[in-house]
Parts: sequence; C-alpha cells; structure tokens
Amino acid sequence: MKRSAGEKAVEWIEDGMIIGLGTGSTVKYTIEKLGELVKNGLHIKGIPSSQQTKKLAQQHNIPLIDLTAEIDIDITIDGADEVDSNLYLIKGGGGALLREKIIAYHSKKVIIVVDESKIVKALGIGFPLPVEITRFGWHATKKALEQIGCTTELRTIMDEKYLTDNANYLLDCDFDRIEDPEALDIALHAIPGVVEHGLFINLVDEVIVGSRQGTITLERETVPA
Ligand code: 5RP
Repeated sequence: MKRSAGEKAVEWIEDGMIIGLGTGSTVKYTIEKLGELVKNGLHIKGIPSSQQTKKLAQQHNIPLIDLTAEIDIDITIDGADEVDSNLYLIKGGGGALLREKIIAYHSKKVIIVVDESKIVKALGIGFPLPVEITRFGWHATKKALEQIGCTTELRTIMDEKYLTDNANYLLDCDFDRIEDPEALDIALHAIPGVVEHGLFINLVDEVIVGSRQGTITLERETVPA
C-alpha cells in the first residue's frame, strides 16, 4: 500500500522540476522511482528534508540543491502520520517535521503519500503530536506544553535523547483528540522553546492513498467536510 501510493506520486513530475523530498518509508518508494526516471534521462533537482532522505537520494543519483530565496519548489512529495478530512496532517513520526514544513510552505504544490491506515476522523487520537523544542530549558518547555492539555514524552533512541537534524529535542505530545488544530497551532507557537510542531494546516493540495484495491487521490477542494 505504501509502495503503490509512493510510486503513483511520480506521475505528477515533469522534466525540469525542482522537487521537495519528504522523509519516511512511503516517500522512499517515490525517491526510488525518481532515481529510475533520472537514470532514464529525467532532469530534476531535489531538496531533501532530512539527512536520511539526502543519503537515499544520493544513492539513487538524484541531483540535490539547497533551499535558497531564488528557488521555487514545484512540488513536494512527503508522507504523513495522520490525515483528516480537511487534509490537515500530523507529521514528524520520522523526526523531520521542521525541514518538512519549511519545504512544504515554499512549494507550489504539496502531495502527500500514505497508506489507508493514516486516514483518520480526528487528528491526535491514534498518534501523538511531535513538537520540536530547543535543548535549552527543555524541562520548562515540557511543563508549559503539559499546561495546555497534553501528556508528553521526550523522544529517545537506544536510551539516548533523540536529536533532530537541527540538534533539537522532540516531545511527543498526546492531546488525545485535537478538536481545533488552528487554535492549537497558535497556542503551541506562543510557547518560547517550541521551534515547530507536526500539525500541517492548509499546506496540502493532494493526498494519494494506497489501499489493497490500488490508489485514490484526495484533493483539497473536493474533500467532503
Ligand atoms: C517524518 C514524517 C513521515 O513522513 C511520517 O512519519 C510518515 O512516515 P512513513 O511514510 O514511514 O509512515 O513525518 O518526519
């Protein structure tokens, strides 16, 4: 299901495009497919959203560039942890939410690739919201986050504190059910020490959903309320 969604996304790619490359096990299939197309003569340039994706794209000989003010990203293709009926997302399961959000914000079009298990009625029920925070004062930031109504867990990897590509910590914040993503976005950004969070609001144009029957594409304008 991840493969069918990931590979389908390359149908949106045209010669000469600059492409934002997301992170994760679904977009991995997009990157591998792009590698095949590059081998067969497609000219594209990629902007990776993580060290992990940079390595994968390099393995597949996809030319990479940095995001600068002169760059217009034609399309970003990325995965997600949850997708609701407004095509709002929770992202950050792979720890790359900050760079992913910067790239998505500066893209003319954002396509998300997921398997059907990621489609949810409300964000936050099945997946905690990742929040990237500075290392300085992180205990205080954690307390401030808990005061707005969640339980938090500092992300670790092999018993060590997880560090993002930006050398920050990640707190996985369980809000149970996120009733008002817009209000939560504002509340989170009001806390000093919060660098960014994994709610993607009004950033996505299309979601390609892989299922056993194939893929379907959800578009922002056509999604029922
Ligand atoms: C990384 C992400 C990923 O896109 C998200 O976790 C989905 O990953 P996968 O495709 O492996 O399920 O947000 O920060």
